[in-house]
Amino acid sequence: MKKQWWHGKVAYQIYPKSFKDTNQDGVGDLRGVIEKLDYLKNLGVDILWLSPIYCSPLADQGYDISDYYNIDPRFGTMEDMDELIAEAKKRDMYILMDLVVNHCSDEHQWFQKAMEDPEGEFGKYFYIEKGRNGKPPSNLRSYFGGSVWERIGETDQYYLHLFHKKQPDLNWENPVVRKEIYSMINWWLEKGIAGFRIDAIINIKKALPFHDYEPDREDGLASCGKMLEEAKGVIDFLKEMKEETFQKYNAFTVGEVFNEKPEELPDFIGEDGCFSSMFDFRETIFGSSEKGWYDSQPIMPDDYRNCCFESQKRVEGIGFLCNIIENHDEPRGVSRYIPKGECSDASKKLLATLYFMLKGLPFIYQGQEIGMENVPFRSIADIDDISTLDEYKVALEQGISEKEAFEIACRYSRDNARVPFQWSSDKNAGFTQGSPWLMVNPEYEKLNLELQKEDPDSVFQYYKKLIALRKSEVYKDTFVYGALEPVYTEFERVMAYYRKGKDQDILVIGNFQTESRRIELPEKAAKVLLNNDDTVSWEDGYLCLNGYQAVVLELERSR
Ligand code: GLC
Ligand code: CA
Repeated sequence: MKKQWWHGKVAYQIYPKSFKDTNQDGVGDLRGVIEKLDYLKNLGVDILWLSPIYCSPLADQGYDISDYYNIDPRFGTMEDMDELIAEAKKRDMYILMDLVVNHCSDEHQWFQKAMEDPEGEFGKYFYIEKGRNGKPPSNLRSYFGGSVWERIGETDQYYLHLFHKKQPDLNWENPVVRKEIYSMINWWLEKGIAGFRIDAIINIKKALPFHDYEPDREDGLASCGKMLEEAKGVIDFLKEMKEETFQKYNAFTVGEVFNEKPEELPDFIGEDGCFSSMFDFRETIFGSSEKGWYDSQPIMPDDYRNCCFESQKRVEGIGFLCNIIENHDEPRGVSRYIPKGECSDASKKLLATLYFMLKGLPFIYQGQEIGMENVPFRSIADIDDISTLDEYKVALEQGISEKEAFEIACRYSRDNARVPFQWSSDKNAGFTQGSPWLMVNPEYEKLNLELQKEDPDSVFQYYKKLIALRKSEVYKDTFVYGALEPVYTEFERVMAYYRKGKDQDILVIGNFQTESRRIELPEKAAKVLLNNDDTVSWEDGYLCLNGYQAVVLELERSR
């Protein structure tokens, strides 16, 4: 595999709105990110992905952009952004912006002009279609509920929005639109950012002409996924985008790609693929149902393990995945992948170890490094996220009680990850002295960075060690390029794998349960590289692990 500058890096996702507020208006900002750069550098992070900070009405928290060339005043100014890029550079850190180009905001001037004259030049920037007998042009359901078609005033025309109606889809079939997008990408790369996380990108290719699909819910609509399965040729757009933009800058790009077809993988992340990498969402989508959150199945430790290993296998010899346990669209990883009632410092560290040492690029989502958990929301009024509110409604429509529908909403809500970062025991967890835009997790007095910095056994200190080990001179080549071989898969609630490099064989092993267990180790361990417990014991060739103990061992090599 050809070596790339980003291969051995560790990445961190910042959700600026909830990271750090410096002007006390209750909204996190770019100055807050600048203020915390040293903290992130010290943690060992190299690449920072910023969720969108462009001008936006924030209908979908910035994933609805009204001006790609300016910073939303709530987040700061372009001077702040330039300063952030420069300050990151000084520290050998890299900035990724969020590239949201499947759609823009209905407040973008392109869309405003399109609405003034749907037949004109800007009408062709979007998908505008005539209705059929007073009904929308097709029966697709938006990701956020309801039809993907919104009627334009009193006319018989509709515009397409796969997401919220304030997020009209851009027409990628129109070369003028593609050109506009590429110029914008290059403009940002010229500024000195290192690349992009690429939002919802699979959606840019539609199956045309639009038509109906077999309904999958009682609303008579069908999920957008049905159309995407049918759409051919997304790769052609992506190749063009890469050639016109990223390639010239050797940019790092990571695609948000769901449900790709296996034969497409080389086109996405192979040596000449359209992106540098893409996220692994196997674990995230496990147990999900096309009916909605209310029908989802929880994921158990063995499912989690199997998902991780399937993903590793799928990309073997092809490319690099980006590994996560959470992001701004998901509940907290520790609340999801650790069975109920078993979430503790030990199990949080175990989960961290197991995903972090997989092959690929580890991403940490803000607050993950201190083990932030799901939020004890008090009522649905605490929740802001449009997707959660839709899923709550869907559950109620199924006749599920308010109490249960609320519990479901809490379990999966994107707001679990979107509440403010817990910096300290001060008011509002030290996020703001004003009134925070979204509630602060009331647990912050017990769980915050300030406390964990002082405690050598904290989750935070463990993440530091984990990152340091992965990046250490001696072992990094094995962690980055070493082969991954699953082992002990016949055992329940054990997740273990070898990383075999040219210099070492390393075993990463976690006892994913509260009971202790013994495992026969054919090889001798030369060295314990990391351990989330005080000691690690061996008995006659058996490794004895306590409940939720995880260790990283260098094995003796018989040459
Ligand atoms: C992506 C984003 C999500 C957003 C959606 C629409 O999935 O991560 O937050 O709602 O795209 O842009
Ligand atoms: Ca602010």
